[in-house]
This record gives sequence, C-alpha cells and structure tokens, in this order.
Amino acid sequence: MDALLSRLFSSEEEELYILDCMAYSMVFMAACTFVTLLFENVPYGRYATSKYGFPVNVKFAWFVQEMPAFLVPLCLVVWTSSAKTSLLPNQLLIAMYFCHYVQRSLIYPFLIRGGKSTPFISFALAFVFCIYNGYMQIRYLSHYAEYPADWVTHPCFITGSVLWLVGWLVNVHSDHILRNLRKPRETGYKIPKGGMFEYVSGANFLGEITEWAGFALAGHSVHSSAFAIFTTVVLASRAVAHHKWYLAKFEDYPKTRKALIPFLF
Ligand SMILES: NC(=O)c1ccc[n+]([C@@H]2O[C@H](COP(=O)([O-])OP(=O)(O)OC[C@H]3O[C@@H](n4cnc5c(N)ncnc54)[C@H](OP(=O)(O)O)[C@@H]3O)[C@@H](O)[C@H]2O)c1
Repeated sequence: MDALLSRLFSSEEEELYILDCMAYSMVFMAACTFVTLLFENVPYGRYATSKYGFPVNVKFAWFVQEMPAFLVPLCLVVWTSSAKTSLLPNQLLIAMYFCHYVQRSLIYPFLIRGGKSTPFISFALAFVFCIYNGYMQIRYLSHYAEYPADWVTHPCFITGSVLWLVGWLVNVHSDHILRNLRKPRETGYKIPKGGMFEYVSGANFLGEITEWAGFALAGHSVHSSAFAIFTTVVLASRAVAHHKWYLAKFEDYPKTRKALIPFLF
C-alpha cells in the first residue's frame, strides 16, 4: 500500500490536499444528490427498477458493495505506515468506523430476509462510494488527523461519541425489527412496530444519520462532516419516501408517526 500511495502522491502535503479535495467534492456530490432526489427515489429495495441495470442478488450486492469500506481501511491501518494510529483520539474514531463496517459488510448482508435485488448501477455506485469514503476517512485518521492531547475529554468528543453509540444501536436494532417482519421466504411489506419505529418510519435511517453526525462531531474534520452530510441527504430522502409509501399502502398506518424526526418531521 505504501508503494501505491507513493506512486500516486509526490508528498504528504499533496496527499492531504487530495483528501481535503475529496471531502469538498463529497459535499458537492451531496448537493447534486439532494437535487436529484427531489425527482427520483434512490433506486434499490422497494424502488428498484430495471432502468438502472440488471438485478444483482441482494445479499451478494450488499456484501460486495460494502466490503471495500472494510478492506481499504484495513489495508491502511495494518499494511501501511500510519503516523497517527498510536494516538488515543485517532484510535477511538477508527474503532467507531470499523465497528460500523464490520457489522455492515460482514454481518448485515447475510441476515437480509427476502430483500429485493439491487439494480447494477446502484450496486456499482455504492461499491465506488465505499472505496472513496473508506480511503478518505481512514487515511485521514490514521496518518494526518491531529487532536489536542486532551481531545477525548472535550465535550465535542464525548457528545459525539455518545451520539455515535446511540445512533449505531438504533440503526442495528431497527434493521433487526425490519428483518423480523418477514418469515423465511416472505418478500412482502408489513407495518414496522417497536423501538424507534413507534415514532418514525425511517428509524434505521435516523439511527445511521445520528451515528455519522456523532462521528463528525467527535472527529471535527471536513472529511467526517462530508460523510455525515452525504448520509443525511440520502437517508432523509429515503425516510420521507418510505413514509409516503407506507401512508399510501396501509390504511391503518399510525397517523402520529413522523418520517424521520420524532414529533417534528
Ligand atoms: N450511510 C449511507 O449513506 C447509507 C445508504 C444506504 C443505506 N444505509 C444503511 O443500510 C441499511 C439498509 O438500508 P435500506 O435503504 O436497504 O433500508 P430499508 O429500505 O429500510 O430496507 C432494509 C431491509 O428491510 C426490508 N424492509 C424494509 N421495510 C420493510 C417492511 N415494512 N416490511 C418488511 N421488510 C422490510 C427491506 O426489504 P426490500 O429490499 O424488499 O425493500 C430490506 O431488506 C440501513 O441501516 C441504512 O441506514 C446507509
């Protein structure tokens, strides 16, 4: 990996500059995605259509598309010289990232029940995004990010870490509720009940948005903030679309339930 990075970048200053550019580009991509999602739903799951390519088996798609988000960072921390992995704030932030992606890439795909196939273009875009974001987050944290010595006791780090943990638990628990709505071999949809679904239709999305917002607060960088913004754009749109879809499909859908933010939205 060191040999590859030294072929790509002539100096550390250049690599850091590219990492910053990647983060600002992700914010730009989030803005473009926001506009696109005003007209179209993210095309996978219940909104999958053949317009976005041939169908890819859902478990295969989630496993392969998310794998780079785990493998690229693993190569960066294990087989690449990294100047900052001995520092506690960096270690804790890297641990948060890995905790999420070990679950997402190695466990989540194999638990899916009756999920719809993923259109090839959605699968390919997710695959590329995971390489891009995995490199951006972990290369920055493992080699460049510098925090004050007492950063782990700073209110931003503590609040961000708590938000990250609560968000992760809500996300994993909500995905568990959705999965158990179906018996083996069922593929239809039911009204989710329990946990944060009592308050919002997009409970799993609320969890994931909270998680990466907390990570951004604790990480205090343009790189972690860009990912939180991108996640919010994609998942807020999905939560609103699911909410409208449930209201149209189920006459007895709970009327007090909101789309994404309990009691408000
Ligand atoms: N960080 C990011 O940018 C990002 C982007 C996308 C997703 N994610 C995360 O990835 C996970 C999955 O996302 P997703 O968009 O696939 O979530 P989703 O649309 O809620 O679907 C999750 C799974 O539950 C099933 N399901 C959903 N609602 C159901 C219902 N009412 N009855 C029965 N089964 C139901 C779906 O089946 P079908 O496939 O048949 O609909 C799918 O297998 C979430 O935790 C999300 O936060 C993160």
